[in-house]
Amino acid sequence: MKEKMGSTTLVLGIESSCDETGVALYDTGRGLLGHALHSQVDMHAAYGGVVPELASRDHIRRVLPLTRSVLAAADVSARDIRAVAYTEGPGLAGALLVGAGVAQGLAFALGVPVLGVHHLEGHLLSPLLSDPAPAFPFVALLVSGGHTQLMHVRGVGQYELLGETVDDAAGEAFDKSAKLLGLGYPGGPALARLASLGTPGRFRLPRPKISSGDLDFSFSGLKTAVLTAVRGSEMTDSARADLAAEFQEAVVDVLTTKALGAAGRTHSRRVVIAGGVGANSRLREVLRSKAADAGIEVFYPQLSFCTDNGAMIAFAGAMRVAAMNPPGAFSVQPRWDLESLPPAA
Ligand code: KG4
Ligand code: ZN
Repeated sequence: MKEKMGSTTLVLGIESSCDETGVALYDTGRGLLGHALHSQVDMHAAYGGVVPELASRDHIRRVLPLTRSVLAAADVSARDIRAVAYTEGPGLAGALLVGAGVAQGLAFALGVPVLGVHHLEGHLLSPLLSDPAPAFPFVALLVSGGHTQLMHVRGVGQYELLGETVDDAAGEAFDKSAKLLGLGYPGGPALARLASLGTPGRFRLPRPKISSGDLDFSFSGLKTAVLTAVRGSEMTDSARADLAAEFQEAVVDVLTTKALGAAGRTHSRRVVIAGGVGANSRLREVLRSKAADAGIEVFYPQLSFCTDNGAMIAFAGAMRVAAMNPPGAFSVQPRWDLESLPPAA
């Protein structure tokens, strides 16, 4: 691990960009010392999606108790923290402000530097928390609720965008199709569960842009095709499961084809999947098998670090410890282009 002038640095990481409050401690010498998460899924489920104001208020309620419990479980005193990292963006502005404010307050009280982390950089680097960790360079398939991107990653902060969705993100397509199938929020995991009971092929859905020759994605037409199928046939339980399975297969086909296309184009031997959709077991299985055929190694974050979490923020912060700001300077960036990040020192 990276060390600062021969010594190790203990970083507290805080994630509050959407509907999960995550807190973690990462030590540049000893690795991840602890992490805790509170999911707001139950609270938002009643509304069928994330209610931003409720999310912000819940982050306020959770973030300090979670911080205390992570410190206690790791047997670490707050005074041992050498830097605080928080998710600066992209995300919900009010939710981001909670993490930013708490991180700034803690850093000021402890007299330590503070750093705003790009949420997607957190996802991108999260496979490095696993053992074995991928070596640079690698191709990263970033598949979250709001983003679907292929990146060529040469090092921390050295990111080249190879392709991205021109409309809906993969996670968004899962969530919207889940709704059409009568499943609640969060739709991705629910659709994946239903798909495991069905068989692809009974319904025929398109594989958008699979042969487009570029590395971009388009998922909005797939959601429309699901709507047409739902309206066009009697939706028995087995039909719903078969449609879910076909939808999942279509998304997995496109994601895996493009990810391996990106590896080919950049002559990469390693592919990494990160972000919430990376928790999808069919995606993991198909990518692993297609990649093995092509002699490419695939790396995933552990399941709990695919979806939003504090560990990836503490880790990304630790990788950028040298760039941390003194207490007093902070901002949030609800919209933030990943390619604008500077390389790490
Ligand atoms: O990375 P993430 O937790 O939050 C964002 O940064 O957006 O990703 C959330 C997305 C949601 O769209 C959710 O439905 C999807 O990831 N997701 C899944 C699965 N678990 C989460 N999609 C498909 N299969 C899953 N098992
Ligand atoms: Zn995320």
